[in-house]
Amino acid sequence: MTTRVGLLPGDGVGPEVVAEARRAVDALGLELDWTELPWGSAHWHEHGRMMPDDWREALEGCGAVLMGAVGDPSVPDHISLWGLILELRQRLDLWANLRPARLLEGIPCPLAGPGPGDVDMLFLRENTEGEYSGIGGRAHQGLPSEVGIETSVFTRTGVERVLRHAFRLAEGRRGVVTSATKSNASRYGYVLWDEVAEDVAGEFPGVGYERVLVDALAARMVRDPGSLDVVVASNLFGDILTDLAAAIQGGMGMAASANVAPESGEPGLFEPVHGSAPDIAGQGIANPAGAIWSATLLLDHIGESEASRTLMAALEDVCRDGPRTRDIGGDASTREVGEAVAARAAELSARSR
Ligand code: NAI
Ligand code: MG
Repeated sequence: MTTRVGLLPGDGVGPEVVAEARRAVDALGLELDWTELPWGSAHWHEHGRMMPDDWREALEGCGAVLMGAVGDPSVPDHISLWGLILELRQRLDLWANLRPARLLEGIPCPLAGPGPGDVDMLFLRENTEGEYSGIGGRAHQGLPSEVGIETSVFTRTGVERVLRHAFRLAEGRRGVVTSATKSNASRYGYVLWDEVAEDVAGEFPGVGYERVLVDALAARMVRDPGSLDVVVASNLFGDILTDLAAAIQGGMGMAASANVAPESGEPGLFEPVHGSAPDIAGQGIANPAGAIWSATLLLDHIGESEASRTLMAALEDVCRDGPRTRDIGGDASTREVGEAVAARAAELSARSR
């Protein structure tokens, strides 16, 4: 059976890294039908919207979407993000944002201590509410008395589902959930978050649970990343902590993510953690590893678990043996890395057939 997969390259380096992720997936010889979704900043300039009104119909029948990134210096960032990625996350209710942060062999780590095997964290970021609910407003614009109010929203349902998912994920890993909180300074949202976490932890006696204030957690990620297994965090905290996690695993170019609504049947959205990187766009030097890693998460989501493992093994081989892009110490182009992963993936899948 052919699975339809949406391909949303987006802006900047998005199309460059997505092309290589697609090349690597195509090398596995699966029955996939790619549907191009030409949305992003160019679409906004032409039509005044980041994606068409009928975007839902365009996604009809898609099991998943592979995305690059959106954002261009010619479009205000809050327009490009709210007009596309945040719109998709909220409207499809993709409440779980999974971001594995593992240091692969051959990838330089900016920390002195850890080597591969010492860094294997899985971040689960709440993806639809919290600080990015989009509730607030501005008054007295342009006057000295101008105000901007942004409201964080935490619902019991939203917090509970993401925490329960974190515990389930930890059951399949090293069995520890670390919950990022700020219930000392924040008196409502994170206090609710902690209470729900405590309740959910009670349902999983086999999984360890700790809550850590987010600032202390950031320090611990640097000092002792090996002590962390599954980290569950709100939308804002997860956003910030996973850029730090990306740096620890070798940089923005390495980090992958999955936006999913477990058990809902909605298509998942898979994208590297990095943005459109306008500073290096068009030069053919962006690291495609995060996009390829995201494609392995996509394959798992559409039921191609073996292909997912094969592609991950190919990516790990290339990270270890090269070629590598310059952000991780090599001098290869985006395309050279993509071609190497695709060749390795084809080799590994032929061997397993
Ligand atoms: P960024 O992630 O695009 O870039 C941060 C730094 O990481 C830059 O120095 C860049 O060169 C480097 N970098 C990023 N991806 C890389 C790769 N694949 N290989 C090597 N180096 C890489 O974040 P920034 O600069 O804050 O944002 C740029 C634009 O992207 C903005 O418009 C922002 O709103 C948007 N953005 C979009 C996201 C999305 O679509 N999900 C996520 C984050 C940012
Ligand atoms: Mg971010």
